[in-house]
Amino acid sequence: MAYNFDEIIQRKNTSCYKYDLLDKYYMRNDLLPMWVADMDFRTPDFVLDAIRERLEHPVLGYSFQSESLVESIKGWVNRRHGWEIQSNWVGFTPGVVPALNLAILAFTEPGDKIIIQTPVYFPFYSAVTEHGRELVLNPLKMCNDRYQMDLNHLESVIDSKTKMILLCSPHNPAGNVWRSDELRALADICIRHNLLIVSDEIHADVVYSGNKHIPTAMLSGAVAEQTITLMAPSKTFNFAGLATSYYIISNSKLFRKMEAEVRKLHINTGNILGNVAMEAAYTYGDEWLKELLAYLEGNCAFVRNFINSQMPAVRYIPPEATFLIWLDFKGTRISDHDVRHILLDDARVALSNGVLFGKDGANYQRINIGCPRSLLEQGLSQIARAITPLL
Ligand SMILES: Cc1ncc(COP(=O)(O)O)c(C=O)c1O
Repeated sequence: MAYNFDEIIQRKNTSCYKYDLLDKYYMRNDLLPMWVADMDFRTPDFVLDAIRERLEHPVLGYSFQSESLVESIKGWVNRRHGWEIQSNWVGFTPGVVPALNLAILAFTEPGDKIIIQTPVYFPFYSAVTEHGRELVLNPLKMCNDRYQMDLNHLESVIDSKTKMILLCSPHNPAGNVWRSDELRALADICIRHNLLIVSDEIHADVVYSGNKHIPTAMLSGAVAEQTITLMAPSKTFNFAGLATSYYIISNSKLFRKMEAEVRKLHINTGNILGNVAMEAAYTYGDEWLKELLAYLEGNCAFVRNFINSQMPAVRYIPPEATFLIWLDFKGTRISDHDVRHILLDDARVALSNGVLFGKDGANYQRINIGCPRSLLEQGLSQIARAITPLL
């Protein structure tokens, strides 16, 4: 391996959400942080070098997204996902969560209904409710250690006020890579009922062997006509702090509406260092990503083996994508409330409580495995020491 993912990097006192806000969110700061979805690995040198090089120029004035940046996005999306996109389908936002909110503002009206499939990344809820739109839930069903979409229920909750579905693909928190038949069945319903699909594909690159991410808009021309795709390099290359992302919309009418919403807020020019970082990542990042995926697959195997041998009452839901793993604590017969307290007060680890992702997340915990294996081992050992005596 050319890259060292075992390196322990001290992140405390860097205004880092994951390490420096433990006190605020967990009321104690002596925890091993395995919550916020960024990784503890070094942002790759080809990204840092590109930023350093840009900083050699002493003026950081207004900038724009260059043609070469757009070309790098087109190249990446094509190489990774086999999707040939055109330059005039691409627009920019300072983050995927802002883009979710902007899409809701651009394409729906207060009082319109928007569907989400739960449990799901929590900003999906607030993006709907904070703009006065009505949230409609289509809970996912857990079958054989994998969430499935409940398409009968989905169709039954759609009415004339339902305008949009927010799709998390791959899925956070459970790491599903939605398969082509699942996406097609979902898209058929959306086409039949004229629902716009906002497809959050921020985790599209961190997909494990045996699985293939399919951009929703690639399913067919008709699906592309009503799909807004949101992507970013920030999860893949670990630079979420640069708040740089993009949307892809091939339907020119929809594209213009989204662009107008972004321009209204004057947030289209982007972040000068984010733009440089994205271009470097998408130009030089293939080999690094290959090694990252191999390391993360090793981490997944480590978690699976550890849990199966030391905490078999906890159920490991095998992720098909993402550096996040959804753990089911129901088999421990310890209440959700008690599990949360044991993890904090005894195990001293900060995981993400399942209920954050919806009430169907009760009894689950999401653990972030985007860290050196030694930290992962430390966190799991602390959990096992705290939980095992209670079983
Ligand atoms: C599904 C999903 N969308 C969006 C984000 C955050 O996107 P951004 O930081 O670009 O706003 C995350 C981060 O965890 C995520 O999991």
